[in-house]
Parts: sequence; C-alpha cells; structure tokens
Amino acid sequence: MNESINIFKISGLLTLLAFTLMAYIPGVAQEPQRPWMNTSLSPGVRADLLIKQMTLEQKIQLLHESSAVYKRGGWQYVPAALGGDGYVPGIAPLGIPDLQLVGAGLGVTNSGRGYKGRSTALPSSLAETASWDPKVAAEFGTVIGKETRDEGFNVSLGGGIDLARDPRGGRNFEYHGEDPILAGTIIASELRAIQAQHVVATIKHYALNDQEAGRTQWLSSILHVIQPSGRFLVSANLDVRSMRETDLLAFEIGIKESGVGAVMCAYNRVNGVYSCQNSYLLNDVLKKDWDFKGWVMSDWGATHSTVKAALSGLDQEFYASRYFSWRLKKAVNENLVPMSRIDNMDHRILRTLFAVGAIDHPPVVKPIDARADALVAQHVEEQGIVLLKNTGNQLPLNPSSVHSIAVVGSHADVGVLSGGGSSQVDPVGGNAVSLPLTSTPHIYAPKVWDPSSPLKAVQAMAPNAVVKYNVGTDFASAAKLAAASDIAIVFANQWSTEGADLPNLDLSGDENQLIEQVAAVNPHTIVVLETGDPVLMPWLDRVSAVLESWYPGQRGGEAIANILFGVVDPSGKLPITFPRSESQLPRPRLPMPPPGGGYFDINYFEGLKVGYKWYEANKIQPLFPFGYGLSYTNFSFSGLQITPTLTDGSQSIQVSFDLKNDGARDGAEVAQVYLGFPAVVGEPPKRLVGWAKLDLPPGKTRRVTVTIDPKSVAHPLSFWNFSVDHWDIANGVYTVYVGDSSADIHLTGTIEVRHPRS
Ligand code: BGC
Repeated sequence: MNESINIFKISGLLTLLAFTLMAYIPGVAQEPQRPWMNTSLSPGVRADLLIKQMTLEQKIQLLHESSAVYKRGGWQYVPAALGGDGYVPGIAPLGIPDLQLVGAGLGVTNSGRGYKGRSTALPSSLAETASWDPKVAAEFGTVIGKETRDEGFNVSLGGGIDLARDPRGGRNFEYHGEDPILAGTIIASELRAIQAQHVVATIKHYALNDQEAGRTQWLSSILHVIQPSGRFLVSANLDVRSMRETDLLAFEIGIKESGVGAVMCAYNRVNGVYSCQNSYLLNDVLKKDWDFKGWVMSDWGATHSTVKAALSGLDQEFYASRYFSWRLKKAVNENLVPMSRIDNMDHRILRTLFAVGAIDHPPVVKPIDARADALVAQHVEEQGIVLLKNTGNQLPLNPSSVHSIAVVGSHADVGVLSGGGSSQVDPVGGNAVSLPLTSTPHIYAPKVWDPSSPLKAVQAMAPNAVVKYNVGTDFASAAKLAAASDIAIVFANQWSTEGADLPNLDLSGDENQLIEQVAAVNPHTIVVLETGDPVLMPWLDRVSAVLESWYPGQRGGEAIANILFGVVDPSGKLPITFPRSESQLPRPRLPMPPPGGGYFDINYFEGLKVGYKWYEANKIQPLFPFGYGLSYTNFSFSGLQITPTLTDGSQSIQVSFDLKNDGARDGAEVAQVYLGFPAVVGEPPKRLVGWAKLDLPPGKTRRVTVTIDPKSVAHPLSFWNFSVDHWDIANGVYTVYVGDSSADIHLTGTIEVRHPRS
C-alpha cells in the first residue's frame, strides 16, 4: 500500500498518457474506457480517476447500506444482496462492484452460499490469542479470507480488538485479551491473512467498546427498541494517556501492522461523544496521527447525525441509511458538507478496494474447503488450549493404563459450545444441540454447539477403554458413573454473547456443584472448561487437572482429546487474567444502565492498569495470572544478557537468554519479556514488550533473543506524554523481566536510558 512515487507509478502514468493520446487518433481502438483498471497505477491514483467520473448520486450511493427496500408495507431484501450483514450496490458502468459484507470474526456468519449454507466455526479469538503465535493467527485469518471469498463476499467484518478491561465483557470471546501489544500483534497477523485473499478486513469496534455495558434480559431484549442494551447508552470514559497506551495502542498496532482496509466505529460514546462522530478518535488519532488510508464504517445503527458524523470522520453508514443517504446529499447541496469531504469518503473506499485486490480479483463463488479448514480450526484450538492445573502429572492420559473414563456434562457427547451474537457461525454439520429459544437469555438465540464430539474423540484415543457419557444434570447419577471409572472428565461451560455482559464469573447453572460431586468420588477428576471469559473455580483444590478450551470450534472435541492424551503438548498461555473473585476487579459490581434505562458512564479509572497491570499495581494475587499456562514438560531459563545496557532510546535492545527443555517430552514454551519503567514515569509495575514461542525437544537448550525496538508501532519503551501530546521516552533505569507468565519471572536485568539532550 505504499503510495510513494515509484517506477510502476511512472510507467502507469505513461501508459495512461499513451491511452489518452490513442483515443484521439482516428482508426485506433478507443480501448481505455476505464483507465482506473490499469493495475500498474497506484490504488490512490486509480481511486481518483474513478471519482472524477462519478456523479454526486453515485458518490452518495457508496456511502450507505442499501440491502433492503420498503415495498408493500414491509422491508424486502434486494435480490442482489447476498444475505450477509450489509450490502452497498456498486456502479456497474464504472466497474465498481457491489460491496457484500459479512460477519467473520470467528468464521463466516450468515453464510447464504457456504458449504451447504454453513461455514467453518473457528475457535474463539481468545483461543487464537492464547497461542501467542502470529503464524496461528495467520492460519485463522486465511480460513476467514478464503471462506468469505468462496461465499461471494468481498468485505469481512472481522475482527474485534477491544481490550478485556472487564472479564465479564460479553464479547471478550470475540476480542484478543487484555494486553494491547499481544492483542494488536495477533490481530494484525490475522487481518493481513484475510486481506491476502483479496477481501477487505475490518478492525472493530473503535473504540473502548470493552463491555456490552450491562445485560439485556430475554424479555427486555424483545423490547430492544424500548429498552436498548447498555452498549447504546454508555459513555466509556478514560483519560487520553491511558487510552493511547492501552485500548488505542491495540488498534494502532493492529491497523499499522496489517494495512487493514476498514475500521468500524463503536456503539458506545467515548468521553461523552459517540464513537462514530468522535472527531478526536476518527480525524485526529486514526486518520491524522496514524495516517489510516482506509474507510470508517459505523457499527450497525451507531450513526447519530449527518453533518457532524461526516465532518468528524465517519465515511460510511450501516445498518440503516438514515443519515448518509438523501440527508447527506442535501447537506452537500447546502454546503454543510464540502464535496471534497464526500470525495475523500469515496476515495477511501475505492482506494482500499483497489489496494486489497477486491476489484482486480473479485470473489468467485465455490464450495468452501470444509475438510481442510476444519483441520486449521483444530490446529488453532490445539495451540490455544491452556492447561491450568495438572497435579501429580494427571495428564497426559495414557490410553494403555486407563480402562474406564466417565465423560460428564455440557453436551460433550455431541459437541462443543460457541459464543452468541453477530459472530455466531452456522457450523458445517449444523448445531449439535437443539434447545428451546427461551433457554437463551438474549435476542441472538439460539445457543450453538459446534458438532464435534469430545466423547467420540476421547473414545478414539482410548479404543480399549470403556468410555461412558453422563449428561450431568442428575448429580447422583453423574457421581455414580464417576465413582465406577478410572478417570472422570467433567465438561463445564459459561455462555457469553454480544449484547450482554456476564452478571458474574460463575459457570452455567449448577455446574460448580456437579464438579464438586464428581470430584468427591473420583480423585482423578479433570475439568475441561468451555468459556468465553474467565470463570471462578471454587472446586479447584479438589480436582486434579483443568483445561481451558475457550470456545473450541469446528473440531474442538478432537483438539481437546489430543491435548488430554498428549498427542499435542499444551502450550497456550492466558491472554486474560483469571481472578479469584469479582471483588478483585476494578469494578466488583457489574456496571449497569440505571433503572428504567438512560445514559450512563463507565469510568475506567484504573487507566493504564488493565488486567495484570491492575493486579500487580494493587498487589492482588489472581487465581491464574496473565501469560500463565502449563506444559507436559518443564522449561528453565538462564544466561540473561541485555545489549546495550545503556541506550539513548533510539536503538534496538536485544534481550537474550537460554531456554532449556528440562523434561522428558517434546514441548513448546512462550518466553515472555516484560519491562518495568522508572518510577517517575508512572507506569504500572510492568508491561509486556515481547515474547518468543519455541518448540524444544527434551534436553535441548536454545538461545533466544527478543528484540525491543523503540521505533516499532508498539512503542515498547515509550509513554504517552500528555503535555506535548506525543510518545516520549524517559531517562532512567528500566528493569527487564523474563518469565513464563506475568507472575513467574525467572530472569531480571536492567537497561539504562539516557538521552543525549539531557
Ligand atoms: C455488531 C458488529 C457486527 C454488526 C453486523 C453489530 O451488532 O456490533 O460487530 O459487525 O452487528 O453484524
């Protein structure tokens, strides 16, 4: 997407000139009707050429949704709309394709033309992020990009990057955890992979849509319009420095490192101003500071004005065309919005379509590669499962010494749970469990279990063992089966969804009791969690092993079985802290809209101290810290070397150390590097600045080097200097920590920063 003048550009201009001259020579074919289709021109030049040909009506047409028309007393989908989440008709005579948009945070949703009407359900983004592996994120993005394209769509509405400031956040499973550098790095890799398939990717929800802001009960969700969920009412308030160093930093990395084409602004207000008409966020930060060249689309129904939104940086309106259709045209005619702004909106859309190849390589509808993509889903899950507890090496299970296994609960006989809302994929094979709609406390019903049976996968791993399932609703019968089995594996879940935060961090229903009862009779009880957020574990001391499998996706059962039996070494690390109780959170009580509805605030007073930074600053011990996760082998760290030890803050810092696999099995470790700032800077105790994930055979040692580049978009050595409104580096002594979680630090060293100017 580099637009600097280059040889291709010059040759493109010459070609254009030649074509133009030819058009005036009698007898020479008047070929170049569409000079913007010349692929040697830069995307920006191509967009400009197009815009010159467009009427005001055509320009406005690209700026809003048009998937339905009001006919004979009702809304009807226009036939050309594929049935995704959004449709903007193109301009055929100019070669501008329709924009067909589809939700695709965790796989393609609404897959009208997918594989038998369905797509591959990927594991949740928390699983993807728990891999700490950008290569895994690229695999994830490639599946999304390919299936989006194979189903005929050219704009994918994935993925989400709001930070998990509250572990009860209803959409945390669609987001990438609590650390901006980890989240930004993972999503950038995913978005690059989506766009490599010539599909525009979207990063959302900009900004601070960290919570759904309360809960919508089943009844009030039917009355959605009368009593809208908190996300439409809340103002997420945060000081500028904290914003820049946390939530906005995640976006900054995600956007700059991927060249993502679209940014979706959020439902909530930020510091009192709606995100989609927030000039600070859209104009000052996104477009000016970060030089974002793509377009800003509103979340579905998040536009609140015409002139203000247009002048504040919004480029395209969804879900209705309330403000950016005739009202926008009128505003242009009345000189309230300059034509240059309209051109800029269109330029951003068209330039992006050229830049990702959506015009040069339009989607061709064909069946998705369901088998191959399911295997990718499985691999992502295997890399993202986190082993939280493993007393006495309970795991991995040895198929030849286990004779009987009880599998209990959570429909583990047929499937694995997924999260709800607009990211919900209709999985290949369909919903494995059918529940009455009323059992789902939100409008985006029903709950979906992806059709991958843990029971069958466990049986396949231990063909000679007797593997029996108990549904887990009658504790006595579950305990009876568990008591009669060598091993009991209890599947327990927590369902979360867009539109509602979790009221607390409990498991569903009375699953805590179920686990207690099973653990009371079987000392080899293993708990497999399928959750969208952290959960509390009152039974932790009484079980021997715990696996966090998040929402495991299309082949989650197989992935879980591979980890349980050690076919794959668990190497996932928590991207989000698990608290001991809600009382440890910055806001022990879930923020809710006031009784009877109405606008309200969530004040993110914890500021920079998001997630582990909060716990460390307040010396609170969580249940499981950020970055934590066990393996079936052991690793040791030694030989820390930091070069240079004194810097002016401009050169890269190399943090090197030896990582050794001390155990008897192959395994993978994520070595994490954190930085502690001089006290005067006022940062939390430490912040993640880099990591390396390595596979090591038993007994093997490898020298690892993690680079801290002060010039990288992650700003690892900087703080946001509010008084001068830019990133700054402070003098002083910094502490470098190397560990296998934020709380388990094995090596510590220092580096001094001294600016020549001081
Ligand atoms: C969600 C977006 C989604 C859109 C279209 C909205 O409710 O907040 O994330 O992309 O719907 O499905």
